Amino acid sequence: MLFYKKYLRCLLVLILMSFAQIGYASQYLMRQTFYYCTCRISVPSKRFCSSQSVMNSLSNKHLSQKDSKLNNWTSDYTLKVKEEYPLQYCQMLESAYGSGMLSEGGTKAIDAMLDGVSLAQRKALEIGFGLGAVAFYLASKYQMQIDGVELVEWMPEYAKNKTPPEIAHLVNFHTYDPYPKIPIFDKSCDLVFSKGVLVHVPADKKQAVFDEIARVMKFAGDLVIDDWLSEHEDRFGAKIEELCRSEDLSLFPETEESYTKTLQKSGFSIVSIDNRNDEYRQYNLDIVNKLKGEEGVEFVAKFGQGNLDEIMKGHQNIADAINQGELLIRRIRAKKL
Ligand SMILES: C[S@@+](CC[C@H](N)C(=O)[O-])C[C@H]1O[C@@H](n2cnc3c(N)ncnc32)[C@H](O)[C@@H]1O
Repeated sequence: MLFYKKYLRCLLVLILMSFAQIGYASQYLMRQTFYYCTCRISVPSKRFCSSQSVMNSLSNKHLSQKDSKLNNWTSDYTLKVKEEYPLQYCQMLESAYGSGMLSEGGTKAIDAMLDGVSLAQRKALEIGFGLGAVAFYLASKYQMQIDGVELVEWMPEYAKNKTPPEIAHLVNFHTYDPYPKIPIFDKSCDLVFSKGVLVHVPADKKQAVFDEIARVMKFAGDLVIDDWLSEHEDRFGAKIEELCRSEDLSLFPETEESYTKTLQKSGFSIVSIDNRNDEYRQYNLDIVNKLKGEEGVEFVAKFGQGNLDEIMKGHQNIADAINQGELLIRRIRAKKL
């Protein structure tokens, strides 16, 4: 109030002065007063701006806290995955699984994973392409255009170099930019698939990954995941724990219920969850048997007896874990809403 009274009085005096025609001096004073008043009038909006900027800086702070939190956990978890998949370990797995494969079952398992999903000429994204064999197979068979995303930095270049020339125009391999941002456009994919990958993502970090997958998918697009689940939300059983210790792997348990909840929260509707235990138990036993023969000799020549023993034991453990119901291999199909 005092503030306005002061300026009103000032204004009045100046108006009277100007009416009294005191000359240029009064006009000058008028202009100055007008300028001064408008500046003061703009103060509230300035104050609004500054509170807005406080809000912005708070939310920036919040974001940066979120970011640094993200960076903390992403660096812990993503660094661990990167350590877990060095080239030599991948080449050992490839020797056991077949050219370019880092998961069991070969083309039979790929066909089974995508059974019932329309594939021809679709635009797809693979989460965790490894050495690239799943993408090579699907691009060759269905002329699909496939982008792949990986955590491990050397993999895109490696997969690119291994790409058969006849499908080089169909496949593209990337790392995250930064994790978990997938470097492709919003709503650009008809299909996203992932084989034996997401068990590496801690349960409480999956939401961010599924949100990002949802971002790049078109409405009613298909999500197909082959993954390892557990009967308990907080642990796998003894066999898988032994596998994790001996192969220095970090795997994170999820039940069908927890997986479903996370997917739904990211805007997916579950189409089906299929039990793949029988097929995967057999794939693992086949690997153990194969390595007992001629291929085991070749394996030893390349990687040594110790590694052969470990790989055979590991796959026997997987088959046993499936048998005992501690490991659940599931195909999860969902639609983007
Ligand atoms: C068992 S391998 C399977 C690779 C490939 N899908 C296959 O079947 O040959 C698991 C792969 O998942 C990758 N990976 C783990 N977490 C990931 C994530 N959040 N996003 C993308 N790739 C991931 C690892 O780097 C590794 O190459």
